[in-house]
Amino acid sequence: MNVLVTGGAGFIGSNFLRHVLEARPSWRLVNLDALTYAGNLRNLDGLPETERERLRFVKGDVRDAALLSSLFAAERFGAVVHFAAESHVDRSILGPEVFVETNVLGTFRLLEAARQGWEGAGRPEGFRFLHVSTDEVYGSLGPEGAFTESTPYDPSSPYSASKAASDHFVRAYERTYGLPALVTNCSNNYGPFQFPEKLIPLMILNIAEGKPLPVYGDGQNVRDWLFVLDHCEALLAVLEAGVPGQTYNVGGGAERENLALVHLLCDLVDARLQRPAGESRGLIRFVADRPGHDRRYAIDSAKIRRELGWQPRHTFEQALSRTVEWYLEHREWVEEVRSGRYREWMERNYGARG
Ligand code: NAD
Ligand code: DAU
Repeated sequence: MNVLVTGGAGFIGSNFLRHVLEARPSWRLVNLDALTYAGNLRNLDGLPETERERLRFVKGDVRDAALLSSLFAAERFGAVVHFAAESHVDRSILGPEVFVETNVLGTFRLLEAARQGWEGAGRPEGFRFLHVSTDEVYGSLGPEGAFTESTPYDPSSPYSASKAASDHFVRAYERTYGLPALVTNCSNNYGPFQFPEKLIPLMILNIAEGKPLPVYGDGQNVRDWLFVLDHCEALLAVLEAGVPGQTYNVGGGAERENLALVHLLCDLVDARLQRPAGESRGLIRFVADRPGHDRRYAIDSAKIRRELGWQPRHTFEQALSRTVEWYLEHREWVEEVRSGRYREWMERNYGARG
């Protein structure tokens, strides 16, 4: 099978490529990525020769209709897994337009190229278009309950609004043209290769470097955390066994308040660096809240568990420790992704916070 993966130089996309290259030795993968600030080919370093030769990289933008059309004509993809997106909520508040461009227009252009490729090939039944989306499209929960696949969309940020729009286009293409498309809506991921603007890697690195730890608002917001490899396994299960037209919610069942999570990270890093217990908690600073900050996310993943037999294989505590170790051991990678445009952007928009 020849699979187009968009955004494969980013956090989840690179973990997915690594996972699939190993788990499906007969598959060939084409990674289409524009290499924005969030994309880094170093995320794919160190692949064994037998895997590297089954991976083609194409530097390009999902908005580029001509490029997409020539890729579909040349590669005759059997499936598309669409990760490419602007993914950071804070950036979407500071500059929403690129979120509309990439997440909405880019998804539309990809759908259109996929539809034309699929129709041109005689509408093969086995073709799949898997759209990787987020639980943020459902908005914010109160203290009880969890998002199901039928929870109405109620996005709060320009990021989640753009992802919601892209989900609607994917479903519309399935209903209108019969394109065999599926959507997954996943909770917060963590693990290796996550850009250190997101809560967990940002906190690990700031703790290690003795920098302030910016906690938004009162720190009582809740996120449902999933180790990235568990997400990748869920995506592969949906790609291979999911029913076209269906949506699958994916979550870790590991809800944590932000402040409790930051405390835990302080303790893990302090222990690893042999600092006195509790020392780094003193770095916590409560800062102005994120506008439109969703209070709580929780995913009901009963459907994917029941219908596809998926469940997370990693416990939160074990995978979080493993993640802490990874960031502390990969300082060269950290320096690389923090350099250039990212560093300038952080300084301009966050000042001392970064
Ligand atoms: P990321 O920001 O780490 O990576 C995004 C990748 O897309 C980068 O490699 C970037 O270069 C590429 N890209 C951006 N714009 C592009 C364009 N116009 N054309 C081609 N490539 C482009 O994101 P991530 O955290 O790995 O998220 C991947 C996907 O998963 C996103 O669609 C996101 O909405 C979704 N998602 C993320 C999470 C999470 O916790 N990170 C959870 C649920 C869903
Ligand atoms: O729920 C899935 C989503 O998870 C994905 O769709 C997004 O792509 C991904 O970025 C993530 O969004 P969040 O906004 O939940 O993640 P972030 O790491 O930015 O923030 C997690 C929580 O921590 C959130 O409540 C805001 C808070 N926070 C974040 C940062 C960066 C802080 O308190 N301080 C910070 O410095």
